[in-house]
Parts: sequence; C-alpha cells; structure tokens
Amino acid sequence: MKDKFYLTTPIYYPSDKLHIGHTYCTVATDTIARYHRLRGEDVMFLTGTDEHGQKIETKAKEAGVTPKQFVDNIVEGPRGVKDLWKLMNISNDRFIRTTDDYHVSAIQKIFKRMYENGDIYKGTYQGKYCTPCESFWTESQLVDGKCPDCGREVTDAQEEAYFFRLSKYADKIRDLLEHTDFLQPQSRVNEMVKNFLDPGLEDLCVSRTSFTWGVPVDFDPGHVVYVWVDALSNYITALGYENDRYHDYGHYWPADVHIVGKEIVRFHAIIWPAMLMSLGEPLPKHVFGHGWLLLDGGKMSKSKGNVVDPYILAEKFGVDALRFFLMRTFPFGTDGSFSNEALIQTINTDLANDLGNLVSRTTAMVGKYFGGKLPAGCGPTPGEKKLAEKTRNRADNCFATTILAEDPTRQPDFELVAQAAGLRKTYEAMMDGLAPHKALEEVFKLIQRANKYIDENKPWILAKDLEANGPRLAHVMYNLLEATRICGILLTPFMPESMEKLFAQIGAPAEVQTWESAAEWGSLPDTAQPTKGENLFPRIDMEKELKELEAMEQAAQAAAAPQEAPAAQEPVQPEFITIDDFAKVKFVTAKVLACEAVPKSKKLLKFSLDCGEGAPRQILSGIHEYYEPETLVGKTVVACVNLKPRKMMGLESNGMLISAVKEEDGGEKLHLLMLDDAIPAGYELC
Ligand code: ME8
Ligand code: MG
Repeated sequence: MKDKFYLTTPIYYPSDKLHIGHTYCTVATDTIARYHRLRGEDVMFLTGTDEHGQKIETKAKEAGVTPKQFVDNIVEGPRGVKDLWKLMNISNDRFIRTTDDYHVSAIQKIFKRMYENGDIYKGTYQGKYCTPCESFWTESQLVDGKCPDCGREVTDAQEEAYFFRLSKYADKIRDLLEHTDFLQPQSRVNEMVKNFLDPGLEDLCVSRTSFTWGVPVDFDPGHVVYVWVDALSNYITALGYENDRYHDYGHYWPADVHIVGKEIVRFHAIIWPAMLMSLGEPLPKHVFGHGWLLLDGGKMSKSKGNVVDPYILAEKFGVDALRFFLMRTFPFGTDGSFSNEALIQTINTDLANDLGNLVSRTTAMVGKYFGGKLPAGCGPTPGEKKLAEKTRNRADNCFATTILAEDPTRQPDFELVAQAAGLRKTYEAMMDGLAPHKALEEVFKLIQRANKYIDENKPWILAKDLEANGPRLAHVMYNLLEATRICGILLTPFMPESMEKLFAQIGAPAEVQTWESAAEWGSLPDTAQPTKGENLFPRIDMEKELKELEAMEQAAQAAAAPQEAPAAQEPVQPEFITIDDFAKVKFVTAKVLACEAVPKSKKLLKFSLDCGEGAPRQILSGIHEYYEPETLVGKTVVACVNLKPRKMMGLESNGMLISAVKEEDGGEKLHLLMLDDAIPAGYELC
C-alpha cells in the first residue's frame, strides 16, 4: 500500500483579501504536497477558511452586509481566496469553510463530547480580549498592557462562559513538546515552554455570549463556541470526523504535519493536542511553525497598510517565478524581509541566468550542431554508469575520485555525473526535514555545475571540427540534457508549469520525469530530440519594473481604500510628467478676503480671495469639518487658478485651494496650506 501523507495549511481568516504572507504559507505547503505526490504517496492536502468570530461580525456590520455575505465575497468572490489559490496553482485536495453545515454540526458534537467527559465546565470569564486576534489574555500575559501577539489594544471582557480544562493537560503537553519531535523547528519549542508552559497553563475560555457569529452551543443557546476550538477542529472534520460528508478520518488521521505561522503555534502545539487528548484521538505527528515575511521590518497586515498584493506580482512576473522566489529566498522557519528588488534579483539570477540559460544554450547547441537530434550512442559511458550507481544513494560523491583515477582527463564529466546522481538523496533529506530552501540550494549547485561544464568543454570549439569531435560533443550535450532533466524533476514541486515546458524543450518523455528516474543517470534516451522553445524565464528590467510596481501597488491600495470622494480614481501612471506638464498648472498666493459656510452643505466653505487680479475670485473648498470660516479671514493661502470653473450647490468655484492631506488609521487629516502673511497676493508659485 502507498504511504499516506496528510498535510494542512492554517485556514485563513477571510476578514480581508489575502496578501503575500498568506501566499507564502500556502505555496510552501503546496510544494511539500507536490513533493510527496511526486514520490508516489497518497497525499491529502487540506486548506480552507476560518469564517466565524467577532472580527468578521464587526467587519460585516461595517460593510452593511450579513457575516455570511461578507465571507462569501472574500472566499468565493472575484480575486478572493479560492481565486488566489487557483492562480498560484495550489493543488489542495480539499477546501473547508467553517461555515459549511457538516463542520458546524460536527463542532457541536465535539464541544458536547468534551463537556460530557468533564473537560468543559461553566464559569465566569474575566480578562482581556484582543478582537483582531480573537484571543483571550490574562493580565500577566499582556505586553505593556497590549496584545502580546499584535501589540494592539485589548478590551475588558467579563461574561458567563464555558472553560476547557487546559491546565489538566499541562504535564502531558510539556512532555510532548520537550521530549518528542512534535513541534518544529526547535526554536518554537523554546518559545512555547518559556512563554506558556513555565508560567503555568490556565483553563481556556471556550465560549462567548457577547456576539452571535459562531457555532451555537446546542445545549446552551446564547453561547457560541470559541473560534479557535471551531477552527482547529477543521483538520478532522474535513476528513469526516463526527460527520457524514467525508469518510477518510480513519485513513488519513493523524496528520503528518500542520504547517502554520509562528504566531499561531501556541494554538496548534498546546490547545489542539489538549483537545485531541480530551477527545481520545491521536495527535498529529508534527506541527511546523514557519516565520513571517516582513515588510519594512514589521509583519504585513492590512490594518498597517503594508501588504503586498500577490495578484500583481504573479501577473507581472509569472506564478512559478513568484512561487520559486518565496521558497528560494526565505529559510523556512525564520522571518525574512520581502522586497520587490529581492524578487526581481532572484528571478534574474537563478531563473533567467542560471536555469534559463542552461536550457536555452543547451537546446540551441543541439539544434545548431546536430540538427536537433543527438546521434545514438552518446549516452553514459560504462565508467559514468558505475559512478552514478554508486553515488545515487549517497549524499556525497567520494566515488568520483576513485573512478577519476581511471581517466584523469574526464574530471568535469565525473563531477557532473556524481553530483547529479547523488542529488535526489540530498534533496530528499532537505524536503523531508521541511527545508525547501536548502533543497533548492542543492538543485542550484547542480545547475551551476552544469553551466560550468559548458565553459569547461567549450562546445563551440569542439564544433569547429565535427568529424573529429562529433562523438565527444554529442556526449557533452547529452550530459547537459541529463543534468537538466534531473533538476527539472526536482524543481517540479516548486514550479510545476515551467517544468512541463522544460521537459518539452529538452525532449524528455513522461517516463523520465518520475521520482525514480531522478536518481537514474542515463535515463534520458540518447536519441532525445530537444527543441529550443520560448524563453522559460525572461530577464527583468529591474529599474523599470520597480517603478511600475510601486505605481501599481499605490493604485491598488487607493482603489481598495473606502472612499466617499467621487470615483475619479485615475489610474496612476508610472511615467514622469515633464516640466511643461507641470507648468500648465497655475498656482498663486491669495489673501482670504471673506469666508463663509455654504448653506445646507456640511463640508463646503465659500472663499472670496484676493489673487492679485484686481477683482476678488470665488473658490469653494470642502474643508468645513477642519476649519471654522471666520478663523481663515486674512490668511495667506495657495490657490490653483486655471482649473475649469465648476458649480457646487449652485455656486461657482473658480479654482481650488491647496491643502496638505494625509490618510491615517482613523481617516483623513487635513491642513489648509497657509503661507507667511508677509508674502503678497498674486505671486505665482513655480
Ligand atoms: O491565523 N508572513 O488565519 P490568518 C508569513 N484563521 N505568514 C503569514 C504572514 C506573513 N506576513 N501573514 C500571515 C489564522 N501569515 C487562523 C488560522 S488554523 C486552525 C486557523 C500566515 O489568515 C499566518 O502565520 O490570520 C498563518 O499561519 C496564516 O497566514 C493564516 O493567517
Ligand atoms: Mg493571523
């Protein structure tokens, strides 16, 4: 029977659109899932959305829709969660939404079972609650009085509530964390022990009465199940636990690994195992806590306004390039800083230069020197076969030197063969150890070795005398194609679509794209017919793209920000304006002669201004919420005087007053631009 492998991502909060940080986590899990499928395992890869809780209820209210409508839009709607995973080529086998009926009724049964076995009891909750994180905290857990996870304000919470006897499981959890490899990497164990186990585990509040958007406790109406109890259980309800929708709990549980971000390790490594112990169910084999992608030194979050839109990046640079960048650049398990420069740099160096060039140079040379078809007999020599055989099950290539003694002139060949034949073994160890970045590093060592092999053999010189050097040149080409094929197989979990193209270009049929054949040097038929195709990874113009990206991200953010202003959201053009464009706008200094509120308008003020033109000029400005009209009389301000006149509330406005404006968390801040009163009216600004 095939080995089974069950792995999960966290289920995402659809409180906002997902960003590159979420994408990182899901791409990593997808890569691991594809790796296990490549090995022929029976994989179950689960992802989904975590749709209950106070935060969603509040957001829906703000948006004027029901919570279900709100989450439906973000999960199923255009450019929503499901669309993003489709775009990113995520190969999940199942998608759970915690609002699915089968899950809701299973949660009620799970809650009741823990109540009936005495692990859930009724009490009064008194403490602090962080609404954005949906986390209860005790006073002592707060950092400077704020949420220790996100640093935001917490609120007092006191209500009748059910509690889960987490304290009862403290010793067992400590044992699990300290004496098994349940939680990885090791640094996360230290964090859990120091921050949560050493101070002592308190019982956990697992129901709320102050809002309704959650799974109702069926035996006590008015209570809804704490969102984390609801969310964590997804990993078993999605397999059919306590429901009839699915039937493979017995087959896939326990999970092989839950991949999660570091801030939710606490839930997965303490609360979740305790819940399973209470239910009498087996524990997942591993929890892996990866790091954060940081932007400007901080975690990305919509409320901080520092998110990066994966749609923009994937559409611009390609899904595979983005997937690759995420896995190649950031060691899985520690934090990393995201930047557009790093993204472009990685694409140019690793994909365009190293891998892309290897493929295009090799296929082009086979085309040029052999008309696209290698001569039969150019495959591995007996010595190379022997070397490959010996090396493939070892992570080092110590046999190379032994065989080299037989023919010292062939050192580059032997190095290439040994490195390629041993690669799968090393790669496997890295992937099994959840270090995809290290696996990639190994693959790229071979790609670089192959490029060096081209330079060492100088095929363009061999080609000058094909009669004498034809067989040698063909063998060099074969070796290059074969090394490329092996890299292609091992890169498939990272860049599935591009590797299909790569196989087509090097002429590798399906049977030599397999996991088994990745350790079989010489699998590629020696009569393979490569064809130079489109450039797999075109080089990117760093300066141009950075500028464009910046403009696009700004435009996307502006479009996403709720606005009451007219929808005159011009797309931001990345191009500069010329001095002539700038000179078209005429700004002058102006003295406020009179200023009054416009009747029936909350915002508008009517200004009479001396702009040095002889007659006063009338301008309307929507700044009443910031200034009382009488305080502005006599001030020196800046007016744009060549705007097309426009009527507002029946009054004509001949220009615009210039203000300094900033969008802040709570809304817009505005200061009317005022100059030193010594500056006379009617001076032009330039
Ligand atoms: O936590 N870098 O959902 P979520 C890396 N619903 N990973 C990041 C990240 C970043 N900048 N930002 C977010 C939840 N993530 C719960 C999970 S599971 C039973 C319930 C990761 O949408 C984050 O660490 O807030 C987490 O693993 C995942 O995205 C989902 O975050
Ligand atoms: Mg979160």
